[in-house]
Amino acid sequence: KAQFQVFVSPEAVAEAVAAHIAEVVRARPETVLGLATGKTFVPIYEALVRVSVETGLSFAEASSFNLDEYVGLAPNHPASFRRYMEENFFRHVDLPAERALLPEADGDAAAACLAYEAAIVARGGIDVQLLGIGRNGHIGFNEPGSAFDGRTQVAKLTPSTIAANTSDFPPGEVPPPEAITMGIGTILEAREIVLVATGAGKAEALARAFLAPPDETCPASALQRHGHVTVFCDEAAFAGM
Ligand code: GLP
Repeated sequence: KAQFQVFVSPEAVAEAVAAHIAEVVRARPETVLGLATGKTFVPIYEALVRVSVETGLSFAEASSFNLDEYVGLAPNHPASFRRYMEENFFRHVDLPAERALLPEADGDAAAACLAYEAAIVARGGIDVQLLGIGRNGHIGFNEPGSAFDGRTQVAKLTPSTIAANTSDFPPGEVPPPEAITMGIGTILEAREIVLVATGAGKAEALARAFLAPPDETCPASALQRHGHVTVFCDEAAFAGM
C-alpha cells in the first residue's frame, strides 16, 4: 500500500520531496519533522532551502528530530550528522536551534536515547519522517536483524555501512563503529513516512523492502506495516520494482 512517485532524475526527486515538505509545513507551521542525512538528502535540503527563500516559507514554529548520530563524534566534527544538518539545512532556515534536535551521541549514550524518545513524545510525535535507505535495506542506522519494535538505541554499524560512509570522513579517518539511532518502532510511529531512494545502487534494496513479505533481514520492509508511506524515487532506483 506504499505509494510510489517515480521521477526521471535525482534532481526531479529532490524538487518533488521539497515541494511536499513545504506544503506540509505551510499547512501546519508547527509540524514536527523527522529528518535524515546521507548523500541522497543533499539535493533535497538544497531544494527545500531554495523553496523557503523563494516563497518565504518559515520553519519558525516547526521542530525537527534527526534519525541518528555517530557515537563519540563531537557535534562540530566534519562528518557528524549535526554538522551535516547545520551546513545543508539549519543555517539556511529559521528553524529555532533549540527545536532542531539530533541524538546527543558524544556523552552518556543510554541516557541520550531515553531523553530523545521523551523529547519526541513531548513534542506530540513526528508528523512526517524522511528516510533514506541503505544498500542492505537499513533505515536510520537500524541494520539487518534489528527488531521492528526497537526504540532509540545504540546500534552497531555493519562493515558494509562503514565502508559506504567512509568517504564522508576526512582522509585516513573511518566512521565510528556505533551510532545512536531511532529504532524501527520509533520510526513507525511517525504519522507519515517519506522514503527517498535514488540511483541504481538502491534498486535491489527498494525491491526487497516492498516486494517480499516484511522480514527483519530487511529493515525497510517494516514500512509495509505503516499506513501512510510515500516512496519518492528515480527510475534507476525503481528498476527492480
Ligand atoms: C546512512 C544513514 C541513513 C541513510 C543511508 C543511505 O548510513 N544512516 O540514514 O539513509 O545510510 O545514505 P546515502 O543517501 O548516502 O546513500
